[in-house]
Amino acid sequence: MKDENRIIVFDTTLRDGEQSPGASMNQAEKLRIATQLEKLGVDVIEAGFPAASEGDYEAVKLIANTLKVSQIAALCRASEHDIKRGWDAIKDAVNPRIHTFIATSDLHLKYKLKMDHAQVLEKTIESVKLAKSFTDNVEFSAEDGSRSNPDYLCKVFEAAIDAGATTVNLPDTVGYAIPEEFAELVAYVMNNTPNIDKAVLSVHCHNDLGLATSNTLAAVTAGARQVEVTINGIGERAGNTSMEEVVMSLNTRPNFFPHTTGIDTTRIYPTSRLVSMITGIIIQPNRAIVGANAFAHEAGIHQDGVLKNPMTYEIMKPETIGLNKNNLVLGKHSGRHALNAHIQEMGYNLSEDELNLVFEKFKSLADKKKNIRDEDIEALINEEVLRSDDVFKLEYIHVLSGNTVYPTASVQLKINDRAVQGAIEGTGPIDAVYNIISKLTGTKSELLRFSISALTEGTDAQGEVTVRLQEEGIVALGKGTDPDIITASALAYINGLNRLEYLKKNPLLSPEKL
Ligand code: KIV
Ligand code: ZN
Repeated sequence: MKDENRIIVFDTTLRDGEQSPGASMNQAEKLRIATQLEKLGVDVIEAGFPAASEGDYEAVKLIANTLKVSQIAALCRASEHDIKRGWDAIKDAVNPRIHTFIATSDLHLKYKLKMDHAQVLEKTIESVKLAKSFTDNVEFSAEDGSRSNPDYLCKVFEAAIDAGATTVNLPDTVGYAIPEEFAELVAYVMNNTPNIDKAVLSVHCHNDLGLATSNTLAAVTAGARQVEVTINGIGERAGNTSMEEVVMSLNTRPNFFPHTTGIDTTRIYPTSRLVSMITGIIIQPNRAIVGANAFAHEAGIHQDGVLKNPMTYEIMKPETIGLNKNNLVLGKHSGRHALNAHIQEMGYNLSEDELNLVFEKFKSLADKKKNIRDEDIEALINEEVLRSDDVFKLEYIHVLSGNTVYPTASVQLKINDRAVQGAIEGTGPIDAVYNIISKLTGTKSELLRFSISALTEGTDAQGEVTVRLQEEGIVALGKGTDPDIITASALAYINGLNRLEYLKKNPLLSPEKL
């Protein structure tokens, strides 16, 4: 029997999430995140927008051909070209979904589409029918739905469902809605779309006013049964509804929400870390659920209470989201077999060669750092395996710095397997390192942001550096991890340069070219 309160979790980290400035990912990174999302229990993974670029098409195809459980969605505008391209990318998935969209607000119709209500309605029907000719699993989204005329919105949804849509999605594209108002709109759609019982009503909220999660939860209460979310709430502008906030709200307040999801909450924290590590988007410390301070108690009175009974000041247990502060894993004496077993437990399946590479780095890290934690291993895999297609690789780095010398950096890089080296001075050690890397790579990017933090606690922790680079109008983030913070800085810079290279080779097609 169908569970009326089962909420379908649709994750768009790889599509709307990737639209966060600089968050572009390579194919191996996207596949790694998709694999983790499947383990997390996400029902539908929106793997990308295949018509947007060749790289996006290839990544969606790879994910569709690899994953075994989750539905794989491809975003397509309401056009024949997009839908055919989208279908081509996902057709071999176990359960493919075409997600087609067109704007329905008067503002978008007049200024963006230059179409009238009748034309948008016709385009909706045409594109849903085309999508339906490929698969039964079709989602239709009314872009800027929250600012559309409610009666017109219902008319478009009715037509989309008649044409074969099995999910209709109501986006708050610009994050303008207020929870009570959004819940009223959802209820209005439920009551005024005659065939709504033949489809699932979904919502997709943006966080421009910080209300994405509240709007999504209000919509669930009003009858929506699919939520569109991203990990850590990453996404266009201020981001999308965050998966962890919605799922943990449903889990923590069952008296208020009799709803369930398929999410294994113990995988939330590792997934959040992975997405941050791969995209380079830092999780702010006070972020709900997954921030470093989310379970930290500073005030003495709170600490005392938590020691007596954690529920005095903790509404959730850290273990529920998979946060085990004592996740002491391995050390200097751990062998290859133990490392592999642990890596598999973390959800990776490395080839023999990849494992050898990671084991070698693990041993050298274990020589410097006593306790190796999950975060350390994740960083090693990220750097050694997921970035294996990189154009620029660091071979060695030697830096002279102090208060009585001119900081000087000597660096050797491999550029497409050709070794190059050089040395240069700078105002500080990082300036020197970045100057020589820029010279060796022949790149002219501007450093927009540099930040550093410790990956775990302790003075022997690895430094984690994030940079934001801009070149030829393209922005990319880079991340690097190493016990030596200057090396971590070099790795972050090189990672950012590699991402810029990827973006230069895989430019997003401009709308006119599609
Ligand atoms: O925000 C939005 O309207 C979207 C649609 C494409 C669903 O991302
Ligand atoms: Zn969106």
